[in-house]
Amino acid sequence: MDSSTIRERFLAFFAERDHHQVPSSSLVANDPTLLLTNAGMNQFKPYFLGEQSPPFARAMSVQKCARTPDIDEVGKTARHLTFFEMLGNFSFGDYYKREACAWAWELVTEGFGIDVERLWITVFQTDDEAAEIWADEVGVARGRIVRRGKADNFWSMGVAGPCGPCSELFVDLGPGYGDASEEGPAGNEDRYVEIWNLVFMQNDCDAAIEPVADLPKKNIDTGAGVERLASVLQGVPTIYETDTIGGLITEAERLTGVRYGTDDRTDMALRILADHGRFITFLIADGVLPSNEGRGYVLRRVMRRAIRHARMLGRNEPVLGGLIDATDALMGGFYNEVRDKKDFIHDVAEREEGRFDETLRQGLSLLEREITTNKAAGSNTLPGDVAFKLHDTFGFPVDLTREIAAESQLELDETSFASLMEEQRTRARAARQPGPLAGGLHDAVATVTDQQGPTEFVGHEHLSTTGRVVALAAGADGVMVATEGDEVDVVLDRTSFYAEGGGQVGDRGVLRGPDGIAEVLETRRLLPGVTGHRVKVTAGEIAVGDEIEVTVDRAWRTGAERAHTATHILHWILRDRLGDHARQAGSLVEPGRLRFDFNHFDALSDAQIDDISTELQQRVLVDDHVRAFETTFDFAKSIGAMAIFGEKYGDFVRVVEVGEYSKELCGGTHVPHTARIGVVAVTSEGSVGANLRRVEALVGEEGLAYLKRKASALDRVAWMLKAAPDEVAEKLERLLATQKEMQRSLAAVEQRSAESDATRLADEAVDVSGTRLVVARRDAGVDALRALAQSLKAKLGSAVVVLGTAQEGRANLVAAVTKDLVERGISARDLLRPGAEMLGGGAGGKPELSISGGRSAERLDEALGAVGQAARAALAS
Ligand code: SER
Repeated sequence: MDSSTIRERFLAFFAERDHHQVPSSSLVANDPTLLLTNAGMNQFKPYFLGEQSPPFARAMSVQKCARTPDIDEVGKTARHLTFFEMLGNFSFGDYYKREACAWAWELVTEGFGIDVERLWITVFQTDDEAAEIWADEVGVARGRIVRRGKADNFWSMGVAGPCGPCSELFVDLGPGYGDASEEGPAGNEDRYVEIWNLVFMQNDCDAAIEPVADLPKKNIDTGAGVERLASVLQGVPTIYETDTIGGLITEAERLTGVRYGTDDRTDMALRILADHGRFITFLIADGVLPSNEGRGYVLRRVMRRAIRHARMLGRNEPVLGGLIDATDALMGGFYNEVRDKKDFIHDVAEREEGRFDETLRQGLSLLEREITTNKAAGSNTLPGDVAFKLHDTFGFPVDLTREIAAESQLELDETSFASLMEEQRTRARAARQPGPLAGGLHDAVATVTDQQGPTEFVGHEHLSTTGRVVALAAGADGVMVATEGDEVDVVLDRTSFYAEGGGQVGDRGVLRGPDGIAEVLETRRLLPGVTGHRVKVTAGEIAVGDEIEVTVDRAWRTGAERAHTATHILHWILRDRLGDHARQAGSLVEPGRLRFDFNHFDALSDAQIDDISTELQQRVLVDDHVRAFETTFDFAKSIGAMAIFGEKYGDFVRVVEVGEYSKELCGGTHVPHTARIGVVAVTSEGSVGANLRRVEALVGEEGLAYLKRKASALDRVAWMLKAAPDEVAEKLERLLATQKEMQRSLAAVEQRSAESDATRLADEAVDVSGTRLVVARRDAGVDALRALAQSLKAKLGSAVVVLGTAQEGRANLVAAVTKDLVERGISARDLLRPGAEMLGGGAGGKPELSISGGRSAERLDEALGAVGQAARAALAS
């Protein structure tokens, strides 16, 4: 029974029992607590927790899942996969244990035809109810029902959330897989394989996976791995021989020319290629790009691991492309995203593979040297600084270092590596900026604001308001008063000042108290919810308790708002034009200026940049409304609002909408209408890291000033060329062509004059004991002199040539000796030596041709004389 029949049969069975088919959710889990989707139930978590009401009471799915806690283990055995497919049926407060058990049994025995004699059941140790149901209602022999503890029969997502006791179905693979055990699976997990897990989802657990509450309803969550079922139903010894993953093994064999099943070591590499190749394909199809963080790092890691094993098997050509095609051929019919995005997947993989080959080449040779040295020294540890250097200088992944070192029985010194990494982080932090509040002060402000509550922010609606000073912080101390000239942080109970956040720079402006005035230089968050106004007191004093009139600098704020709204529009356009993967990775929004970083694997072409900036300007001119509203996180998600991955959001969020198209979770401030942005001029696009691009733009007045600067530069050039601005390019092209032509003729003239110079010098050569000698000065470049010397040698047949040049305070001597004279023992280098000394330099080169140089240009003639003399003496002897 092939995998597609397994999927179909499962779905048909539960469809008959009123289950609604839900598509697989993306591997990119829509859940900040999870890096990647790890179970069919992930997408239903809000239903289990009672946060949302499910639109149906029963569901079923075939879910793409990833399990990546121990990537290094995958391949070593034939039991693990990073990516697998999970069949599941779900009940949201509808049916419970009774139906779940009975249906699972029916499908497994009748639907899939597995012999009852081969089946075993496990239940949670205290779950009498489940044990009774299996024995009395389903009719499983009591001896085949085994009780197990929390580690085996209590399921959670691995993080806080819904969880519950579970019951699993096992198949006995038979005597070929080890000894039978009275306790079945509890006695031997090699022989008895789990094919289906039924979770009785009834508890909510904390991060320590301790149940802390009952869920509002009792639910069912089941999961059956397609690969495991396939191995049983196809009667093959492991999942790596089933139709899909086995198909990938076949491709890995084809790519490497190595056969599976011949050697443990190469088998491991083939399994890695098959498993990782498939996982890579699915990750990229779901929009993950290789990077150094989060899921991007998982992807990069498996890509690199696969590539390295392919190279180890002797494949030096790219390997990922073939695995992607095989995944598509085997699974693309069911998972359309793989087929639809195939070109994109290839593109991303190809680039990473190329990049990694380079890293590998450099890192491996360093690592191998270090391994040899350390082993030779009798050590069994690889020093942490080696791994650190590889990581820091070559971008060589530490897990790879660890793995390669282990292959030579060396263990990485993890402690020293970790401390070097930590030092580096500390350095990076220190280089960024000191934290807003030093230790003691942090506590002081925290105490005050604990009593006063967070700063009330009214700056979305009002640019000025009044607030009371609740704390003043100067350096590391809290103070009661700040006087003229002091720089302090002012904490108010209410403010209109926007604190730097979400990429948007903090507001500037003025605070006016009853006894003094302060200029706000910077506004930032000192603690969550607490705004600090960094001020310089310009007159009088500001004291704790003062009523303050706060006024934000309107021009500053408007400038920032223009840039911020433009950023949202740009984000939307980038995703629209480049694809959903072009997600925001960071941004900086300042008055008149924006910088936007996003994920993309390629430089944008001029045409793309032009298209994006035109679209941006057009969307500004349409003058859409910009609206902001507060809502629940779930509602925001349901209307498709963009959230920044990795950012923590509360239950209530603020959504900013531009027109009908862009929706983002955002706490920043924005223009009310897009036309207020005025001009948006994209000024640059470039790379800021692997698969990370940056667009910069100027907006509003700064945008206008930029365009004006460009226009007037063009005007100047046009004036110089005596052409209209439109004709500048054409005219300049013609001019450059003429220049090239002139250079060519000039070179020809120079060549001719050099030849006639050589002829003249040859004619003037003096005769010394039957051979010829030329000594001359030509103030030209060294290359020209060398060419002249060579051509004289050719013309004269048997000769010594000595030439000198002085240019820009530097002098050079060139000496050339024909071969016959070299054989007689005359060396150009020796001849030059006396002259070189006078010029203040040394002589280098060969006996046939030597060049020397020095700074004493004024002694050139003298030096030439000395060399000439030496030559004469040498020839005469
Ligand atoms: N959530 C359970 C599992 O992943 C059953 O679907 O095994």
